[in-house]
Amino acid sequence: MTHQVLVLNGPNLNLLGTREPDVYGRDTLTDILADLHEHAAKRGAELRDVQSNHEGVLVDALHEARGWAGGVVANLGAFTHYSVALRDAISAVELPVVETHLSNVHAREAFRHQSIVAAVCLGVVAGFGRDSYVVALDGLIRYLERREP
Ligand code: DQA
Repeated sequence: MTHQVLVLNGPNLNLLGTREPDVYGRDTLTDILADLHEHAAKRGAELRDVQSNHEGVLVDALHEARGWAGGVVANLGAFTHYSVALRDAISAVELPVVETHLSNVHAREAFRHQSIVAAVCLGVVAGFGRDSYVVALDGLIRYLERREP
């Protein structure tokens, strides 16, 4: 069975490659997503990706995913730490969502230690750089496979 997965990226992740490379690495989001699509194909999954700097666009993408996706890999960027709207959207769509971060948010500023969405997510992956997306996707696929009849 082919698993359909939404890969959601939030604010400032379009700047990966030049944004604080010591923290986030030098790969662009395009590079990371190209590899992730390739990895997904090997694992029998298909990805659609959405990046937006706007909370409402991310909410809309989650709502739409209800119609086609089996799960979501989501790096919501700074919204992770305070967006009640995104938390509510995750709860509402009832899809398994993996909260994903390039950096180890727990080793950074105190305001990044809190996630408002983690409690309504399937799991959390942080600190593996670009590989965080691969780990999150693999975890999600294994979860979806286990759920298959
Ligand atoms: C991030 C961590 C967040 O705290 C930050 O606001 C980001 C990126 C990460 O991938 O490490 O924009 O989600």
